[in-house]
Amino acid sequence: MHFPAFPLILLLFTKSSSCIPTATQEFSAVPISKQIASLSIEFCYIVDYLGDNGSNKLSKQLLQNIQDISGVPPLIRIGGHTQDAAKYCSDCSETLVNVFVPGNLEAVNVTYNKNLFSILNNHVPSEQQFIFGLNLGQDIEIFPQEEVEAAEQYLRDSRVQSYELGNEPDFYGPSQRAAPWNVQTYTSQVVSWIKEIQASTKTKRGWQFGALAQEAQWQGNFSIPEFNVLDVPENIKPLVAYSDHTYPYSICSSATAALVSLPGLMNHTTTVNYFTQWIPSIQAAHSVGTLFYMGETGSVSCHGKNGVSNTMGAALWELDYVLNGATIGMDGVFFHMGTPFYYSMWQPVEFNSTAATVYPTCVSFLSSS
Ligand SMILES: *[C@@H]1O[C@H](CO)[C@@H](O)[C@H](O)[C@H]1NC(C)=O
Ligand SMILES: *[C@@H]1O[C@H](CO)[C@@H](O)[C@H](O)[C@H]1NC(C)=O
Ligand SMILES: *[C@@H]1O[C@H](CO)[C@@H](O)[C@H](O)[C@H]1NC(C)=O
Ligand SMILES: *[C@@H]1O[C@H](CO)[C@@H](O)[C@H](O)[C@H]1NC(C)=O
Ligand SMILES: *[C@@H]1O[C@H](CO)[C@@H](O)[C@H](O)[C@H]1NC(C)=O
Repeated sequence: MHFPAFPLILLLFTKSSSCIPTATQEFSAVPISKQIASLSIEFCYIVDYLGDNGSNKLSKQLLQNIQDISGVPPLIRIGGHTQDAAKYCSDCSETLVNVFVPGNLEAVNVTYNKNLFSILNNHVPSEQQFIFGLNLGQDIEIFPQEEVEAAEQYLRDSRVQSYELGNEPDFYGPSQRAAPWNVQTYTSQVVSWIKEIQASTKTKRGWQFGALAQEAQWQGNFSIPEFNVLDVPENIKPLVAYSDHTYPYSICSSATAALVSLPGLMNHTTTVNYFTQWIPSIQAAHSVGTLFYMGETGSVSCHGKNGVSNTMGAALWELDYVLNGATIGMDGVFFHMGTPFYYSMWQPVEFNSTAATVYPTCVSFLSSS
């Protein structure tokens, strides 16, 4: 995004109750990354978004518009639950195949071939970069190893910002990992897999670590500050970013669904208070010279709520969120999308008899450019 590198915009959105700039606030202001507002696309829907035999014209144009205005399009992280169900398949004939089960909008298995990488190379603006999600969830090391081998061979270097091994590992259930599964067992598995993948594939590309699901206030020691204690920065190089996820509201259960409201979402005081819980994580990332990303986020978890997540009010919330996030030191805020999800910025192809469409939330990019 094209924010001016002046303190003014930070001061306007500072969490201080005073509107009068103070010397301290002015000196603490830093330029905001042009990619502060970025995107996360659910792995199983990436071909919907970017096209298969030809580019998706809507997505290409929207990303190109941002690049034309600010010089770079938003970063795109390709991940989510379905990155933990994805496998590279060298002899599959179709670009990407999803296996769905009734009542679940996220594929339970995803297989893709090398054509996916040609899409990522060619169906996007010239400056597009990706964070590429790898499968940790299924607990089979050959899966991420083959994914990296293929990405090293077919995905252009300039397209890759980093790899991310595993989605929301702090929420892996008993079907994914035997007990004990905690910050030590997670860290030790991921560190050893990454080192082995680096040795076998010779990759020099960077890594994004974490992608934690839990809110910072409830993480206990399964947290970014604890990764520093456990020597993640000494072991994972290059460590590009630490990542957390959050959705302030949820329709995953009827109890939480009852609390969802657009006025609640748009309340600036609530937004500012809610995000202060990430300050220790942001500081921990910066203390080891790495970025802090809110690496997957949106208004309402379990794919958004119609009439809340796809409204102009949600766009205003996103803009407020991004600017407040920048003020407290976040280096990127990655809004999640999937073809059928209400919090998506756009729906790239026809779905369920609804034509491809751009949602009002897309405005949060243009107005911040
Ligand atoms: C892409 O082209 C191939 C070869 O022409 C064809 O078999 C395939 O069905 C096409 N896929 C899509 C999604 O159009
Ligand atoms: C999904 O993939 C796993 C691992 O390859 C396999 O064991 C399982 O049978 C697959 N499930 C479905 C529904 O295809
Ligand atoms: C994390 O917290 C758990 C539960 O309080 C404790 O058993 C464990 O030893 C802690 N781990 C570290 C690395 O401090
Ligand atoms: C916004 O939230 C704050 C704190 O939770 C509350 O005191 C205030 O009344 C809310 N404002 C509106 C307009 O609802
Ligand atoms: C598809 O459309 C029908 C009718 O509008 C709606 O009831 C249903 O929830 C939609 N399904 C999805 C997955 O969005």
